[in-house]
Amino acid sequence: MKNYFVIGNPIDHSLSPRLHNFWIKKNNINAVYKKKKLSDDDLENLILKIKQKEIDGINVTVPFKKKVISYLENLTDEAKLTESVNTIFLDNDKITGHNTDIYGFISAFKSVKYDISGKKILILGAGGVVSSIIFALKKLKAKKIIISNRTRNKADSLKNLFKDLTVINWGDISEFDLVVNATSIGLKNEEELNLDFLKNQKDKFFYDVIYNPKETNFLKSAKKRGNMTENGKKMFIYQAAASFKIWHGIEPAIDDEISELLDQ
Ligand code: ATR
Repeated sequence: MKNYFVIGNPIDHSLSPRLHNFWIKKNNINAVYKKKKLSDDDLENLILKIKQKEIDGINVTVPFKKKVISYLENLTDEAKLTESVNTIFLDNDKITGHNTDIYGFISAFKSVKYDISGKKILILGAGGVVSSIIFALKKLKAKKIIISNRTRNKADSLKNLFKDLTVINWGDISEFDLVVNATSIGLKNEEELNLDFLKNQKDKFFYDVIYNPKETNFLKSAKKRGNMTENGKKMFIYQAAASFKIWHGIEPAIDDEISELLDQ
C-alpha cells in the first residue's frame, strides 16, 4: 500500500486527507493519505522517507512550505521561483518539490470566469501562500500588484522574488479591482480585518484564501454591498487535484460531490 501525508503545524484543520482518500477510493488505488503534525526537527527525517520509498508523496502546509526546500534534491521551476513547495514526490530517484498552489489559484479564477488581465490587485498578508498567488497573478497578466502586510518587512522581502511589486503600509488606503485576503484573519468566525477603506467598496471582487469558515466577515460584508466574492475552496480543490495527478497519474473528478464533501 502506498503512503501519503500532509504535514504542517497546526494540522488538525486540514481537509486534505478527506479529499485525497475520497479520490483514492473512487479510483480503486491501494493507498492511504494521513495528516501529520511536525516540528522543525522532524522535517528532514520524514522527507528522507520519500527517498527510501517508505512514503510516496507529501503535501506541505503552514509553516513548512519554504522550510522543506533545504531537504529536497530537486525543485520544479514553479517551486524555485516562488520559494514555496506544497507537493513532494520522487522523480528519477530525486526528492522533488513542486508548487500546485499556483495551478490551484489560476484554475479557481478560470472556473469563476473572472478575467484578471489588466486588473489592479491588492493582496493582504505576506504568509506562505502569497508568493504563489503573486506568481499566478503575473501569469494571468495582472496590471498592478500591491501588497500590504502588518509586518512590513515580510512584504518588502517578496520584492526579492518579484521586483515590480508595490508595497504599502498596513492600513494604508489603496485602489483595487480585486482584493485577496491572504491573512489568517477570519479563520475564527468572529475575527475581522479592521481596514475601513474596504467597507465602502462597490463592484469589486473580494477573494478570501480561507474556505473554512465558508464565509468570513471579509466576504460577508463585501457581498452585502454587492461586490463579487469567492472563498478559497476551489483553489484548495484544484491544488489537491494537481498533486493527485502527479502521484497517481490520474486526473480526479471535480464536481458537486467533491464540493459537498468539504462542507460536511
Ligand atoms: P506564515 O506567516 O507563518 O506563513 P500564514 O498563516 O501563512 O503564516 O500567514 C499569516 C498572515 O496573516 C501573515 O501575513 C500575518 O501577518 P504578519 O506577517 O504581520 O504576522 C497575517 N496576520 C495574522 N494575524 C494578523 C492580525 N491580527 N492583523 C494583521 N495581520 C495578521
